[in-house]
Amino acid sequence: MSKKELIINIEVINDRNQLLDQINCLIDQASDAAQRAYARYSDFKVGAAVLLANGAIITGNNQENAAYPSGLCAERVALFYANANYPDIPVTDLVVLAYKNNNLTEAPVTPCGSCRQVLLESEMRYDTSITIFMVGESGIYKVSSAKDLLPLSFTGEHL
Ligand code: THU
Repeated sequence: MSKKELIINIEVINDRNQLLDQINCLIDQASDAAQRAYARYSDFKVGAAVLLANGAIITGNNQENAAYPSGLCAERVALFYANANYPDIPVTDLVVLAYKNNNLTEAPVTPCGSCRQVLLESEMRYDTSITIFMVGESGIYKVSSAKDLLPLSFTGEHL
């Protein structure tokens, strides 16, 4: 028997001033988007903002449904909109954050498994890594690829 050890790289940023203006702009837009979330069942308002290689910014928020599984996460709302409307332009960065009881969560919010899989598909589709910023009151986690959030992932290369 042998063992494998997987290493993921996460940068922890404690001060927004350490980020590029462009990323701070994404954070502000994700924050605005979170206020527009339709989260009547969880009251957990998530906002996402994606930056495209052409400089366009697309935002999304969670859209819940009385039939719970029919709802969609903020990240996928933003990503699918971006990919649907700019099919030839890669997404390069994504910011996600959430408000609980109208306060930014203390810990950074991290994308759910399905969103990680969709982020990975976007990376493969455009052969471009997506830098992901997960924002909380206590700090920001930064990873340079969805691969860091989804070890041993399933991709089209398996098919
Ligand atoms: N949610 C997101 O929008 N993104 C995530 O990464 C985690 C969860 C939403 C789904 C649901 O509307 C609410 O947060 C509670 O799970």
